[in-house]
Amino acid sequence: MKILITGATGGLGNAVIKFLHQEGNHNLVALVRDPEAENAQKLSRLGIEIRQGDYNDKASLVKAFTDIEVLYFVSGNDIATRLQQHQNVVEASSESGIKHIVYTSAGRKNETKNAPLFPVMRTHIDTENWIKESGINYTILQHNLYAEVVPMFLGEKEQLLESKVVYLPTGEGKTAFVLREDLAEAGVKILNTTENHINKTYVFNGNELVTFEEIAAILSQIFDEPINYISPSIQEFETTMQSVGLPNEIIGMLVGFSLGISQGEFEDTKNDLEVILERKPTNLATFLQQVYS
Ligand SMILES: NC(=O)c1ccc[n+]([C@@H]2O[C@H](COP(=O)([O-])OP(=O)(O)OC[C@H]3O[C@@H](n4cnc5c(N)ncnc54)[C@H](OP(=O)(O)O)[C@@H]3O)[C@@H](O)[C@H]2O)c1
Repeated sequence: MKILITGATGGLGNAVIKFLHQEGNHNLVALVRDPEAENAQKLSRLGIEIRQGDYNDKASLVKAFTDIEVLYFVSGNDIATRLQQHQNVVEASSESGIKHIVYTSAGRKNETKNAPLFPVMRTHIDTENWIKESGINYTILQHNLYAEVVPMFLGEKEQLLESKVVYLPTGEGKTAFVLREDLAEAGVKILNTTENHINKTYVFNGNELVTFEEIAAILSQIFDEPINYISPSIQEFETTMQSVGLPNEIIGMLVGFSLGISQGEFEDTKNDLEVILERKPTNLATFLQQVYS
């Protein structure tokens, strides 16, 4: 059974392909945009077949998907263009005779246009629908927020030690942060037994609900310095971020996710990930310890 992994040069796809390779799976194909890029070449040196394909170019996908049975489809990272990109991937899957799609979607609650993260979630909602309508067997993995976004939101250790503050308008919102590595491991378990996961949707959460106030407390312990939490109003946050020269696009992204968090979009306790992994997911404090100590 030949499996093609998209996003194979990125964090999630690369972790999936490495787990499969370590298990001795020789029926792997990595989809890469640029076969000459170092991350693609690294895969090639491991003996993994690489095929060129771009989500923007459906013909390249149809060609790359030839003789592939299972597709691990990593959602695109360009929010502005990925709706069309995902439609290309699903259509190319149908035209190439893919038998099973494992799609990395996102967990969410509010699917209305008023949701702060609607521009992000819309692609996932539409893509899930297109996959279901295609008649191809599927497994949808609705990932919660990556633990990796926490350092992305908060910045480097030096910055935090200087400001001594976690400054984000997330209120008392709780999130079941989950490590990308755990998501990859669970994805591999599903790829190895797709017959047990036909037309299922799983919600992959971390095993604890954490607020940013609690994150500040975890950081205080790691640094052995008090780190406070401030949840400003959105307006104050935007003004402060503009005054330090953060680009509007990044401010918009931080505001969207902060509002989503404060409204409980990521507060979910379903334990599908624990069931698939057959162990507890890694907790956020362990991850933050690795990143910040
Ligand atoms: N749940 C969360 O908290 C969270 C956080 C961040 C992202 N995400 C989503 O999860 C996905 C995977 O996360 P990640 O951390 O692995 O992202 P990442 O490291 O940015 O990797 C994205 C991958 O997608 C590939 N890609 C981008 N545009 C493409 C295109 N037009 N055609 C073909 N391949 C394309 C990239 O290839 P190149 O190497 O050629 O760029 C890269 O391999 C992201 O793309 C995003 O949709 C979720």
